[in-house]
Amino acid sequence: MFDHLPVLPPDSILGLAAACRADANPNKVDLTIGIYMDETGLCPVFDAVKQAQRALIDEEVTKAYIPPQGDQAFVDGMTELVLGAERLAARKGVVAAIQTPGGCGAVRLGAEVLKASNSGGKVWISDPTWPVHIPLIGSVGLELTEYRYYDPLTHGVNFDAMVEDLKGAQKGDIVLFHGCCHNPSGADLNAEQWQVMAQMAAEQGFTPMVDLAYQGFGDGLEQDVHGLRALIDNTPEVVVAASCSKNMGLYRERTGLVIFICKDERAAEATASQAKSAARRIYSMPPAHGAIIAGRILSDPTLRSNWEAELSAMCGRINTLRADFRDRLQVATGRDFSFIANEKGMFSFLGLSKEQAQRVRTERGLYMLDSSRINVASLNNRNIDKVVEAVVSVL
Ligand code: LMR
Repeated sequence: MFDHLPVLPPDSILGLAAACRADANPNKVDLTIGIYMDETGLCPVFDAVKQAQRALIDEEVTKAYIPPQGDQAFVDGMTELVLGAERLAARKGVVAAIQTPGGCGAVRLGAEVLKASNSGGKVWISDPTWPVHIPLIGSVGLELTEYRYYDPLTHGVNFDAMVEDLKGAQKGDIVLFHGCCHNPSGADLNAEQWQVMAQMAAEQGFTPMVDLAYQGFGDGLEQDVHGLRALIDNTPEVVVAASCSKNMGLYRERTGLVIFICKDERAAEATASQAKSAARRIYSMPPAHGAIIAGRILSDPTLRSNWEAELSAMCGRINTLRADFRDRLQVATGRDFSFIANEKGMFSFLGLSKEQAQRVRTERGLYMLDSSRINVASLNNRNIDKVVEAVVSVL
């Protein structure tokens, strides 16, 4: 049965993280996977999560399945966090939201429903994008096509090229946006650029789909959804895939939500039924633990303000690391690295070639992706000099 199966190459992100773990080099530094690490090099558990978890353990009386649409406090709290109370009230009855296993599960369920709609359209993805978008959406049977997004020369968004490419997106097509903290580049659209995208969606009739994996890691919980809300204000249908992996540190709990903003109540009922049916077919039931914790944090004012403060401190620390890293690289090389401090979220492309990225790995034990994407949130006072020296050694 299995003897003829080929061994597949390791995942481009997880494979390098595993290679780093296995590396005996005492000076190794892992900047591969997108996980927030604190100053001690540990991915911390939010204090609000610990408190909500303790209460859950004390109060939980059953491990029976939760409903297929998910934990209601979580679904309501997250939908409001993403859309905002005002927009949610204005769209009462036309929003369908289903809890999913992480943000990946949300992208997948969104793609399943888009496929079921039989629009015959293509899914436009940014070049570059998070590599997992491609199998996650493509394996549903939707055709993918790229739009230009990042300009390695300016280290920013190539907005003219993006607009030019997306002029080809038509009614029935889906355009996948990164809501904030673009993965892998860290280069985000500004408010005017989002407005242009919203206008194009309205005029051309394509459906925006927004992957929102980092809300709160850019400029703040509210600011990070201004683009998404501009799309919602201008187009009748939007799909959002939200994740609590990063902003609540619930990586392993697989806590996500897919939101469909529909034209009318019947369409909302239909999308919810399609999403639940796809979930039943793929993994059957949503996982409860992380969603109940997140739902509790979102609905309890004390836990919520603790969580928001901790999240904002993480975001502030990433920005301090960005500025520090920029300064050290500029001093060491005399070159301009200001782009590092202008980007948002965890990631940055350092602009190294694949060969340079591989050399710093083998010669210095510095692990970044082959694309030279680094996780800025894995830098700390103990490793930042090693990282600068390694990068300078191949420039
Ligand atoms: C990443 O891009 O490193 C994260 O989103 C983690 C993952 O699953 O790839």
